[in-house]
Amino acid sequence: MFDAPTPGDTMVQTDTKISARNVQVYYGDTHAIKDVNVDIEAKSVTAFIGPSGCGKSTFLRCINRMNDTIDVCRVEGDILLDGEDIYDKKVDPVQLRAKVGMVFQKPNPFPKSIYDNVAYGPRIHGLAKSKADLDEIVEKSLRRGAIWDEVKDRLQAPGTGLSGGQQQRLCIARAVATEPEVLLMDEPCSALDPIATAQVEELIDELRNQYSVVIVTHSMQQAARVSQKTAFFHLGNLVEYGDTSQIFTNPKDERTESYITGRIG
Ligand SMILES: Nc1ncnc2c1ncn2[C@@H]1O[C@H](COP(=O)(O)OP(=O)(O)OP(=O)(O)O)[C@@H](O)[C@H]1O
Ligand SMILES: [Mg+2]
Repeated sequence: MFDAPTPGDTMVQTDTKISARNVQVYYGDTHAIKDVNVDIEAKSVTAFIGPSGCGKSTFLRCINRMNDTIDVCRVEGDILLDGEDIYDKKVDPVQLRAKVGMVFQKPNPFPKSIYDNVAYGPRIHGLAKSKADLDEIVEKSLRRGAIWDEVKDRLQAPGTGLSGGQQQRLCIARAVATEPEVLLMDEPCSALDPIATAQVEELIDELRNQYSVVIVTHSMQQAARVSQKTAFFHLGNLVEYGDTSQIFTNPKDERTESYITGRIG
């Protein structure tokens, strides 16, 4: 994506995975995202924070075209993944969502077995050559979802029969099973207890070796723990974006400061 640095070039180059340019989102007449520009880095965790209704989920859903599924929703501007416009007519949203996986706030396992939940994506995208191959992908994904030990003896049981926290980890396993390049997580820990939350945070930290992770969270402690970059949204605007440590210790915008110190929200 970038030219190799020439000798003597001292610039530190970061690898941009996703670029948003002049992104606007409307729900009918409601202008929910206002002219957002941001570059999200590869192999790093970016947190989206901000008060309820500020547009975090809306903007997150632009990145894998989940807003396409909402009738009244209109997205304008450009979103580039590795420099390619994801809203281009030639892009198949189903293929895009294998590359840009998503985990939702409410666990939503398919009404299928635990095994089939995880095997679903690899099957439709032809990622396994054999049953043994598929078994391996399922086990690896469940391990990455930090749930293997709890389900290994009941892979044929329905996914919907698990506890809420287990269902969420199953959904994470399902999302990583297609080896996505980007993982979008919308408040993934809000249904989890502190132990499962810690497991998921550890997992997020591991995932960034390979993937770009974007996480929406209402927990500033969580944003500070897991992310390298933080974006603060307010009333549909991206107010401030920078290194997580800078946003939390030395915010430049008054609105960011008010939010992180608990004065707005
Ligand atoms: N499906 C929809 N139809 C109409 N308006 C919507 C829809 N989804 C979101 N909105 C509106 O868009 C704005 C942004 O909502 P969004 O869900 O993106 O906020 P959020 O930052 O994720 O909030 P929360 O922290 O509560 O999840 C809000 O004004 C909301 O009412
Ligand atoms: Mg939301």
